[in-house]
Amino acid sequence: MMCGPLSAPTAHFTKLLEDQLARARRMAQDDGLIDYGALDRLIIGVCGGDGIGPAITAQSERVLKLLLRDEAAAGRVEFRVIDSLTIERRAAANRAIPEDTLEELKACHVILKGPTTTPRAGDPWPNIESANVAMRKELDLFANVRPVKVPDQGIDWVFFRENTEGAYAAGSLGLEVEDVAVDFTVVTTAGCRRLIRAAFEHAKKTGRDRVSIVTKANVIKTTDGKFLSIAREIAKDYPGITMDDWYVDIVAAKLVDPKRRRDFQVLALPNLYGDIITDEAAEFQGGVGTAGSANIGARYAMFEAIHGSAPRMVEEGRDIYADPCSMLRASVMLLEHIGRAARARDLERALDVCMFEEKRLRITGRDTGCTGAEFADYVCSKLTTV
Ligand code: IPM
Ligand code: MG
Repeated sequence: MMCGPLSAPTAHFTKLLEDQLARARRMAQDDGLIDYGALDRLIIGVCGGDGIGPAITAQSERVLKLLLRDEAAAGRVEFRVIDSLTIERRAAANRAIPEDTLEELKACHVILKGPTTTPRAGDPWPNIESANVAMRKELDLFANVRPVKVPDQGIDWVFFRENTEGAYAAGSLGLEVEDVAVDFTVVTTAGCRRLIRAAFEHAKKTGRDRVSIVTKANVIKTTDGKFLSIAREIAKDYPGITMDDWYVDIVAAKLVDPKRRRDFQVLALPNLYGDIITDEAAEFQGGVGTAGSANIGARYAMFEAIHGSAPRMVEEGRDIYADPCSMLRASVMLLEHIGRAARARDLERALDVCMFEEKRLRITGRDTGCTGAEFADYVCSKLTTV
């Protein structure tokens, strides 16, 4: 038994390790993927979140309801509003996700989620864990899939960001001993495998022939080293796909190199690098307001914008001008995920026309451009399956 100044931190670290070992064991036992086609009634939770969240989520909900109206009328699809995931309620409960909200989320099959405010030290809120991060962990949404495309520049990237571990696994469980502050990065064999396999499977399914693994394995030797060595192992199962490995710093540079960036196709990254690089990547497409993301697990899936809740826009009364394209792109991924492929293509095509080709309306985030509702109407006018 250790005593003195190191006994509490040692006990904290032991508990952290025990919890992570238990998580790794649970993961190893997980069974297969849910089959949405086999469900009599598919429940889509709609969770507006904070800040501009409710405004942009309402637009994507409206478009989804239009695309799925026949199935909703026949009772095969149900939209269920979950309006309790607000920063005020989370702060009052002092939890990243209040217990009752978590139960409501778990009663759905897939979730369309607006951005939620993530507190940090010094904010008027308790410094609770991010609701996004907590939801990804609670629902075990291990793959964060973030596509970015700019057709006229030949950019067509799909990022597979690991979503439940890495620097985020114990992001709120670091410790301070005297003047030393320590955070922990955790990866597991099963966690790396399932994410990297998902990236290769996606490449195979979509006819892409290259998967780039992004780490900093030369410096972060244990966790990034494991991610990379597992990738090398998995790549052997995909003889038609070339795997290359990159350090995250040079990937950040090469994405802005017009001669090289077109070569990237599918990229698989540990959690924190995926967070950073996907914001950079989205900038090519018109900013984070234009990028959606899918958080995929075996039982649940959640679809969201890649950006935050932009409280300043609400304070300045500009939430009606917020860009709903991030949530509409997320809705494309939701439709695809639940097997409504033709409607996913229809919405994707309509967005491409409005965002990249015709560009009749422009979103500027203020009254110099159109409102989110006007843009959503514009997108709806281009749908061909409704
Ligand atoms: C994202 C966001 C979140 C993250 C924040 C809001 C906690 O930046 O979805 O990329 O870091 O994952
Ligand atoms: Mg981010």
